[in-house]
Amino acid sequence: MSETPRLNRRPEWAALADHREDAMQRPRLRELFAADPSRAERYVVRVGDLRVDYSKHLVTDETLALLRELAAVTGVTALRDAMFRGERINVTEDRAVLHTALRAPREAVIEVDGENVVPGVHAVLDRMGAFAERVRSGEWTGHTGRPIRNVVNIGIGGSDLGPAMAYEALRPFTARELAFRFVSNVDGSDLHEAVRDLDPAETLFIVASKTFTTIETITNATSARSWLLAGLGGDEKAVARHFVALSTNAEKVTGFGVDADNMFEFWDWVGGRYSYDSAIGLSLMIAIGPDRFREMLDGFHTVDEHFRNAPVEANAPLLMGLLGVWYGNFFGAESHAVLPYSHYLSKFTAYLQQLDMESNGKSVDRLGRPVGWATGPVVWGTPGTNGQHAYYQLIHQGTRLIPADLIGFARPVAELSDELKAQHDLLMANLFAQGQALAFGRTAEEVRAEGVPEEQVAHRTFPGNHPTTTILAPELTPSVLGQLVALYEHKVFVQGAVWDIDSFDQWGVELGKVLARSIGPALTEGAEVPGLDASTSALVAAYRALKEV
Ligand code: F6P
Repeated sequence: MSETPRLNRRPEWAALADHREDAMQRPRLRELFAADPSRAERYVVRVGDLRVDYSKHLVTDETLALLRELAAVTGVTALRDAMFRGERINVTEDRAVLHTALRAPREAVIEVDGENVVPGVHAVLDRMGAFAERVRSGEWTGHTGRPIRNVVNIGIGGSDLGPAMAYEALRPFTARELAFRFVSNVDGSDLHEAVRDLDPAETLFIVASKTFTTIETITNATSARSWLLAGLGGDEKAVARHFVALSTNAEKVTGFGVDADNMFEFWDWVGGRYSYDSAIGLSLMIAIGPDRFREMLDGFHTVDEHFRNAPVEANAPLLMGLLGVWYGNFFGAESHAVLPYSHYLSKFTAYLQQLDMESNGKSVDRLGRPVGWATGPVVWGTPGTNGQHAYYQLIHQGTRLIPADLIGFARPVAELSDELKAQHDLLMANLFAQGQALAFGRTAEEVRAEGVPEEQVAHRTFPGNHPTTTILAPELTPSVLGQLVALYEHKVFVQGAVWDIDSFDQWGVELGKVLARSIGPALTEGAEVPGLDASTSALVAAYRALKEV
């Protein structure tokens, strides 16, 4: 039996490389649009409330057909179907990958090892809903009988970024009378700043950790417990009214001292970076209420169904994933910018960094062989207008190709004054102008025609040809947020499938954790660290000397 050819040995890969060399050697978006203005309508996919416009990409019908062939031979849709069926596609951890079950309707049947997991998902959602309502209504009281007014989520990575991002994104839908804080950093200043103006009698801590072994989270939770007890007279019974836990690890949760009744569970088939629609979203659910949370889950589910059923040529996550492969593997693009034109999405790109880079930052294939092709890009960006006055210069006139996603909304959701509402058109004018300038630039002739002195012409010429995807939605509702996140989750999936890597493990974060554990005692007690390299050893000595001054 002959071995399956590796990705870069496949004829479909070679065909794309040839196409890049020949037909796409110098394609200009100006020319592509001049030759076929209909691409403005043809290269648009609608999914749920999202309008995904990929017309400003360096592609033709032929490019797209070749990319689809690559997807076909690399088995993207077969792996997708295996994921939805609950197969153990996370090969290195031997786990199913079923974040899609978290938003499946009550009546759905999704089995892991012969057991339907959907009833369990909804049972936890129902418990979370009841708890969230009790906190929101003031029925859940703290140790001294006062209602909760502050909710502090303690978690890191997927146990922080998702709820923190979604809380920001959905602020207009949140219970404004409650304060929400998110603590992640083991730097004690994070917890200090989060609680310094809070009254412990009115504060609920949500300790979010899939494993409940993450040192940052357990350390912060322990310190939060001390802060609470110090503020409430030291009665240990207070913990049960002020601490809840979100985890897959019941044993560790109870070992920490959190009541089993105050634990909301999820399962090992939910990856940390795919988890904020599980129990990990409890802080968000308290903020926006169970009904809005379910609207968000329905938004996720809409895109899940689209990903699963839409034909390959009109499948938004598939297309977005393949476009990333096109630039990363055939143009040498090393990064991808995500630029939301919404203040509420200020944490969206940071959230996507974990989703994308922890998933696809891999250099061996699913069998453990070194890959011979580029994998996940560096993902970066901040809200668009701020970026325009900071780093867009490099995207427009620098030497690198940086594909970007521009995300915008037709209407603001917050209750704004008429004057502030009117600013929305200006915000969106910026989004459209940037997409236009990036794609079409400004030629030297056009610059000269404006009367620019000859010595400045080169400096004021914009090469254009910078590809963008424009994602437009009516407004940033809970459902639309769910749709957006699912769109990126599945985009990342598609790329991992093409690159033949395991997008669902994260061994790369382990080494630093292990080494930190051994260096810790050297910093605190001056203990010898066996085998410590000369450079790190000198840094430890310098640190200790400075610390003692
Ligand atoms: O950074 C590694 C990681 O395991 C992430 O994947 C995860 O989201 C984060 O740490 C936090 O893990 P936990 O929820 O188990 O505390």
